[in-house]
Amino acid sequence: MSDKVIEVKGLRFRYRVEEPLIEDLSFEVFRGEFFGILGPNGAGKSTLLRLILGFLKPLSGEIKLFGESIDRFFQWGRIGYVPQRFSVERAFTGNVGELLKAVAPKERVGWIIAFLHLENLLKKPFVKLSGGEQQKVLLAMALTTNPDLLVLDEPMTGLDIHAQEHIQQVLKDLSKDRTVVVVSHDVGFVLKNATRILCLGMPYCKVVEPGDIRGVMKDLFGLH
Ligand SMILES: Nc1ncnc2c1ncn2[C@@H]1O[C@H](COP(=O)(O)OP(=O)(O)OP(=O)(O)O)[C@@H](O)[C@H]1O
Ligand SMILES: [Mg+2]
Repeated sequence: MSDKVIEVKGLRFRYRVEEPLIEDLSFEVFRGEFFGILGPNGAGKSTLLRLILGFLKPLSGEIKLFGESIDRFFQWGRIGYVPQRFSVERAFTGNVGELLKAVAPKERVGWIIAFLHLENLLKKPFVKLSGGEQQKVLLAMALTTNPDLLVLDEPMTGLDIHAQEHIQQVLKDLSKDRTVVVVSHDVGFVLKNATRILCLGMPYCKVVEPGDIRGVMKDLFGLH
């Protein structure tokens, strides 16, 4: 069995032909990693996740999931996705209990509710929850299939310190026995938890270990 969960080779993607976005990107994510993705606004981080999840098609290059080419991959239940909250804030009708029951197998709903402390939210409509509460519910929905790979886009945005600590602890626990890929602007959070970090700011692009991040922040964000 391959210990490579994600393989990206020579990936190219543009929304508009005349606007380069992702050009010749290659990296790998191994089983059990907590893989961070850092980069400035508009660098293509969310786009990269959407390519890896098969929502978008690359112009060229190769993506493999669990050793299988994405074109032939069908075990999507092995992957849980937590989208950027602002993109789905108003996307779900119904209350939290109903939402979870709709997406999760019955025997799993109870575990998820207890794990994320969602008991008090079950009767509330998703659209009326606070940002942190919505974030927890999105994470809960991504966990319904007990995925081997969890992909998160900005899970900390807009959360207060308590909610951040809760989500951080939850992700840490989850990463003990699965692979986590997380895009975040919270550099401290990424540095504290990630095994390796993809610095994405085309044409600048590099995979580094947390200890080596200092040297690349300037190039990545143009800091002085
Ligand atoms: N559906 C789309 N159609 C056309 N252009 C898009 C689309 N989605 C994103 N873009 C553009 O592609 C670029 C990368 O967007 P993306 O959302 O991947 O960036 P990001 O790194 O996730 O940024 P942020 O840190 O702000 O979330 C941006 O310039 C954006 O305007
Ligand atoms: Mg984004």
